[in-house]
Amino acid sequence: MKLTIVGGGGFRVPLVYGALLEKAGALRLDEVVLHDIDAGRLARIASVLDGLAAEHGTRLPFRSTTDLAEAVEGADFVFSAIRVGQLEGRVVDESVPLALGVLGQETTGPGGICFALRTIPAMMRLAETMAERAPGAWLINFTNPAGMVTEAVRQVLGDRAVGICDSPSGLCRRVARALGRDPRELWFDYFGLNHLGWLGGVRDEQQDLLPGLLEDDERLASFEEGRLFGGDWLRSLGMIPNEYLYYFYYGADTVHAIQESPASRGAFLLEQQRAFYAANGEDRAEAVAAWRATRHDRERTYMAEARSAAGDRDEPEPGGGYESEAMAVLEAMALNTRSVLILNTANRTSLPFLDARAVVEVPSVVGRAGPVPLAAGHVPGHARALIETMKEVERTTIDAALTGSSALAVKALALHPLVPSVSVAREILDGYRRRLPELAEAFPA
Ligand code: G6P
Ligand code: MN
Repeated sequence: MKLTIVGGGGFRVPLVYGALLEKAGALRLDEVVLHDIDAGRLARIASVLDGLAAEHGTRLPFRSTTDLAEAVEGADFVFSAIRVGQLEGRVVDESVPLALGVLGQETTGPGGICFALRTIPAMMRLAETMAERAPGAWLINFTNPAGMVTEAVRQVLGDRAVGICDSPSGLCRRVARALGRDPRELWFDYFGLNHLGWLGGVRDEQQDLLPGLLEDDERLASFEEGRLFGGDWLRSLGMIPNEYLYYFYYGADTVHAIQESPASRGAFLLEQQRAFYAANGEDRAEAVAAWRATRHDRERTYMAEARSAAGDRDEPEPGGGYESEAMAVLEAMALNTRSVLILNTANRTSLPFLDARAVVEVPSVVGRAGPVPLAAGHVPGHARALIETMKEVERTTIDAALTGSSALAVKALALHPLVPSVSVAREILDGYRRRLPELAEAFPA
């Protein structure tokens, strides 16, 4: 089996490779190809992978290339985790809206729209390359904004494009721990769109355990989403939202917290990653140690502004979600396990108020034929309304990205619930144009 990782010089690639070292035999994986447009980043990550393989005592063969067509040729699976415009672009995504008093975040709010406008054309080129060079391959897409990107590339790849995110499974895992239960014994009624979902029920053989959890402030305080949203608001909702809904429910609070923080998330990561990638040389032990230290600092500060706005002083739980999700999808598909995973896939009738082709994030049965979404069941009116609004925003963004229409880009921004007016939407697009020449070219004033 051949696996291609597009964005192979990315910082999280060693997580995936580390997990693959454990699973390569069972998966009958014989070749991993890393593709990146930046040879320097590829070389640095290759040193880390060599170091991980040396520690592990096995070597899963991998090679690096900057030639996309050659990387994709004949692949069975393609993982994509690219950041078009790199972290410099993320800094712009976050700071342009923030200067106008609007949420500055890379996937939620206008930052996510701008990120999508840059990313979708590049992802369409990847999808077309796959259709030509590896028509039987599956695209496992981590590239953010993952829901929008997955919906866009479905125009080329159809059901062979699957989007993934670690936040829903992370929420389920944390809730199970708060309940003192093994997540594998429970059923999680999770539904929504990427970074816009809710956990509406947690069932065992006897009952829904969520109402009891919502009454228990001590248990709620034991995990991140409980501390972020607070018991009173969770009881009002009767559900536990994905952490990214903090930006909707506590929008003004986060804007203030982000404005007061010394550096934006993008600027912080830019600096720490610059230091990591700047070092080079052949010392793989040094590369692994530097990567681990950088990763530790990244995870320790994850969503820090939202947590500080919520008065949450605890550190987030250590990671594990990202690579576990990637492996879970790969195993389920390659070995036809028919596991249930929360993935981004075409709706069919999972959320009956959306059309069949809308990409949703819901529990799906995953086997050789790809994911098949399950019926979500009851969705409260307020959640439905937000999902419908955001699906319109997503689709308008996709249309803007594919046509280069500035009017559609402004429309997507203006329809976003966190953007307060059409004039602010226009100012945001103008700000992006000023700071990102490639965006000014793609979306002429
Ligand atoms: C979570 C989300 C990802 C997002 C990441 C950002 O894992 O599910 O979609 O990319 O957080 O983390 P960062 O360390 O880059 O702020
Ligand atoms: Mn995500």
